[in-house]
Amino acid sequence: MVGGGGIGSGEGGKEYPGKLTAKVFVACVVAGCGGLIFGYDIGISGGVTSMPSFLKQFFPSVYKKEELDVGSTNQYCKFNSETLTMFTSSLYLAALAASLVASHITKLCGRRMSMILGGSLFCLGAVLNAAANNVLMLILGRIFLGIGIGFTNQSVPIYLSELAPYKYRGSLNMIFQFTITIGILFANLLNYFFAKIEGGWGWRLSLGFAVVPALIFIIGSFFLPETPNSLIQRGRLEEAKERLLAVRGIPNVDEEFNDLVAASDASAKIKDPWWNLMKRKYRPQVTFAILIPFFQQLTGMNVIMFYAPVLFKTIGFGNNASLMSAVISGLVNCLSTLVSIATVDRVGRRKLFLEGGAQMFICQIVITIAIALKFGTSGNPGVLPKGYAISLVVFICIYVAGFAWSWGPLGWLVPSEIFPLEIRSAAQSINVSVNMIFTFFIAQIFLQMLCSFKYGLFIFFACFVVVMNVFIYFFLPETKGIPIEEMARIWRQHWYWKRFVPAEDDPTTKGNIEMRKA
Ligand code: BGC
Repeated sequence: MVGGGGIGSGEGGKEYPGKLTAKVFVACVVAGCGGLIFGYDIGISGGVTSMPSFLKQFFPSVYKKEELDVGSTNQYCKFNSETLTMFTSSLYLAALAASLVASHITKLCGRRMSMILGGSLFCLGAVLNAAANNVLMLILGRIFLGIGIGFTNQSVPIYLSELAPYKYRGSLNMIFQFTITIGILFANLLNYFFAKIEGGWGWRLSLGFAVVPALIFIIGSFFLPETPNSLIQRGRLEEAKERLLAVRGIPNVDEEFNDLVAASDASAKIKDPWWNLMKRKYRPQVTFAILIPFFQQLTGMNVIMFYAPVLFKTIGFGNNASLMSAVISGLVNCLSTLVSIATVDRVGRRKLFLEGGAQMFICQIVITIAIALKFGTSGNPGVLPKGYAISLVVFICIYVAGFAWSWGPLGWLVPSEIFPLEIRSAAQSINVSVNMIFTFFIAQIFLQMLCSFKYGLFIFFACFVVVMNVFIYFFLPETKGIPIEEMARIWRQHWYWKRFVPAEDDPTTKGNIEMRKA
């Protein structure tokens, strides 16, 4: 079957014993808190950059432009400002560079080290931002925030996928996305209250509060166990075995342990993982490391996340109503992620991807038609009837839900589970870098796009959603229920990818193949 790309989970493969122990669950929740800092930043930036006192102090020209623009009727172009979007998106460039450095630290010093470093640098950035009295401090702070996010996003998804028993890997990994959505929601709510502070220093609180999620994450990370995979990779075999016994909660973990050692031995032969990524046999993994984050950003979700208040204002809500609607979509984002956590290890990744994509596509078309009918190309809706505006919010929320149970969490889960140990750290950095480049790109060009594409903006993203659904349908094999160090076989059994992957290359099945031959 060509389109299936699906391999029944566990088919013909190994099934390591092991329970979901309280230890693993708590460790995954603590590590998953890394998503809080990323989410907090996504949620806080848009709100802060719309606070007049913040603009007046750091971006006076933007402030003046917005003041002068009050009477403008073209809603599409009202908020277009390059300086401001540059401020928002500069962080993503820092994160991109940092994730490449983090790749070495995660590999050589362990996943935990990158997590602790990530949280600490983020914390430093938050303090600099809260205390900023010039643009330099502000930008420097944002660079540290970005570096922190680069380290965290590089290490946490790997940590979760390695520590989780394979049958629960999907749900446990998605805790990361769940905390991202909590961070976004928490930030939106705080902005809402801090913006009202008399005296105009509320932005300091908004930016400074980022230390709270950062401290939760740093303190938690100190108590985390390192993953057995990472211990083995660094030659600490005995410790790794004890760790595996403790986290799996069973008296015998020999089979899994031996496979981890085999994977690590194979990976030790590889001197330069970056150069290695170019090899033909890694073509499938590298393709996904690039395309999954690219497509995730091209769903257009961050248009809503960064600019929800602006977007809702554009479609006719007042100031407070816009923020409230943004909070509602934030809540939908958060709750819908739970749907994915509850189902991903039963229905699999492919079905969630395809359903979420279809749902987003339908909403994007409806939203485009609704905006086109009322705003036309002039961008002047006159008075938007209440029912009309509410229906628009409802469709935006259904769209957000579609993303939240598909591309949101799966965009972090799937890359973290498909890379073999020898390229895992480097490939995950590619995943984070591509994610950051396109987050940057969307943040940078959205206001420009709204101004030039007008209501056609959502059609642009809808076209990508169609392409990504077709891509997933034909090219993504199902990864549900397959142990992480045994993932090589999904490519060998896939109608397209099998041409890239030689059978003898999988260290953990080598024995099986030889036995079968005998
Ligand atoms: C994405 C972010 C996005 C967030 C929304 C994450 O998976 O990487 O770019 O803002 O989901 O919930």
